[in-house]
Amino acid sequence: MSTNSHNFPKDLLSISDLNSEQIEEVLDAALTLKKNRHTHPKHLFGKTIGILTSKPSLRTRLSFEIGLAELGANSIFIKEEEIGLGQRESYEDVSRVISRLLSGLIIRSHKHENVAQMAQIAKIPIINALTNLEHPCQILADFLTVKEYFGQLKDIKICFIGDGNNVSISLMLGSAIAGLNCTVITPPGHEPPKSSVDKATQLAKHFGSQMPSITNDIQAADSANILYTDVWISMGQDTSKDKALRTFENYQINNQTTRNGEIPVLHCLPAHKGEEITEEIFEKNADLIFTQAENRLHSQKSLLVKLLC
Ligand code: CP
Ligand code: NVA
Repeated sequence: MSTNSHNFPKDLLSISDLNSEQIEEVLDAALTLKKNRHTHPKHLFGKTIGILTSKPSLRTRLSFEIGLAELGANSIFIKEEEIGLGQRESYEDVSRVISRLLSGLIIRSHKHENVAQMAQIAKIPIINALTNLEHPCQILADFLTVKEYFGQLKDIKICFIGDGNNVSISLMLGSAIAGLNCTVITPPGHEPPKSSVDKATQLAKHFGSQMPSITNDIQAADSANILYTDVWISMGQDTSKDKALRTFENYQINNQTTRNGEIPVLHCLPAHKGEEITEEIFEKNADLIFTQAENRLHSQKSLLVKLLC
């Protein structure tokens, strides 16, 4: 189902809701919006978008609220506990109410299935701003950053080191669609779920990309063009810090994994320096990492225009 004039899907729940042309289209328009940040038209004038969240956020909230304001739309920030989503009121009825009042909903929640259920019922676009399974908006910003840095996405060898959950799953799926060559390196037992790896394999076949590679061997990072990491304990996980430090100790981005700082590094942030990345390597890549954070704004503005116009 599509509700926009760009032939984009109604919702963005997974990065795999977009095809390779649509990802390119989002990134190209994002570059134009970035160049004309204060002069482009107010594409979303008069619309009101909700931002519903049950987890902390800095980049996601700022980039969406600022982006909507720059596009001429209003935004309303709602904390999930304020409305008792799924408790005070069912997902179904909340979806029906927001369909009458809002032009779109950006949601950060725990269970991906609940967000998918809302999207199925709601008549308005639902944008996943992070669930336990995916973080598609992050990957659009990451790809914009890779494109600016290397001038292309195709055949760039990107290597994620860390936990095989939301960010790395979306990276693996997005790479299979957009033609990056993606390796996910995790400690044993932290690999992305088989269903997501199978999906990425199917997508890679369909779009003629390299098959995703999943390994516990940190040396697989040696041949990467760019590395990527994320926190070892994600929001909502009850893993103890001691346990995470033990599990992930050999999976840190440091001098050795970056070939003495030669390989550039991305980080979705927030960062725990001294854990998934050393302070030295983080600071060496700070310009790239904070460009990546800024690119949340430009890529999401572009996405919003595609989904809401
Ligand atoms: N990368 C990211 O989503 O940051 P926030 O959790 O601060 O929004
Ligand atoms: N994997 C992290 C990403 C934060 C942007 C989390 O879910 O907390």
